[in-house]
Amino acid sequence: MAKVYVFDHPLIQHKLTYIRDKKTGTKDFRELVDEVATLMAFEITRDMPLEEIEIDTPVTKTKAKVLSGKKIGLVPILRAGIGMVDGMRKLIPAAKVGHIGLYRDPETLKPVEYYVKLPSDVEERDFIVVDPMLATGGSAIAAIDSLKKRGAKNIKFMCLIAAPEGVKALEAAHQDVDIYIAALDEKLNDHGYIVPGLGDAGDRLFGTK
Ligand code: PRP
Ligand code: URA
Repeated sequence: MAKVYVFDHPLIQHKLTYIRDKKTGTKDFRELVDEVATLMAFEITRDMPLEEIEIDTPVTKTKAKVLSGKKIGLVPILRAGIGMVDGMRKLIPAAKVGHIGLYRDPETLKPVEYYVKLPSDVEERDFIVVDPMLATGGSAIAAIDSLKKRGAKNIKFMCLIAAPEGVKALEAAHQDVDIYIAALDEKLNDHGYIVPGLGDAGDRLFGTK
């Protein structure tokens, strides 16, 4: 069964409040999403495997730990997921980045896929799919379907805000995918928006609308 982690670190919660606030303009919104993505990357990489190597400090020879070379793939769901990539790459610079383009049909709320470009060695990488919003869950489920169809085996999903409906749907569709969120909100409204949420993540990031 998938595990759900809610990151309640005070810095993440503080910044998320300003991300939610409708008075926050595009520039600050973008910077805050970038910062929260960095903080979440710190938390989500907690279980990365380490190995010991031998080094010389200025004082003596010693054994010390380094990451054991796991290959990571970051996959933002376009558009809004793009806003989280640079923040994560500050901590995981060797990660390769794939892109999955999806938009929600405004009538049906079903995701429509329009673009997929992934690293060539999909089967060897551990993937983190990122999107600020998990609403109905349709986009995350479709992006993960798409990754699995191309050979990905180890996948995590990370978002800023999730609705309970989206978490339930994603857990049911992909039981092997752990979910990492900064806040679990109350519900979806009749238009499929998360309440209280932050509005339309793509529009707020890119200044459209
Ligand atoms: C938003 C958001 C997610 C999706 C979540 O994207 O960034 O991808 O909605 O909703 P869901 O869980 O109900 O699928 P949107 O479809 O607005 O596309 P955009 O990023 O291009 O604006
Ligand atoms: N997509 C968004 O950008 N915001 C929501 O609240 C739901 C889906």
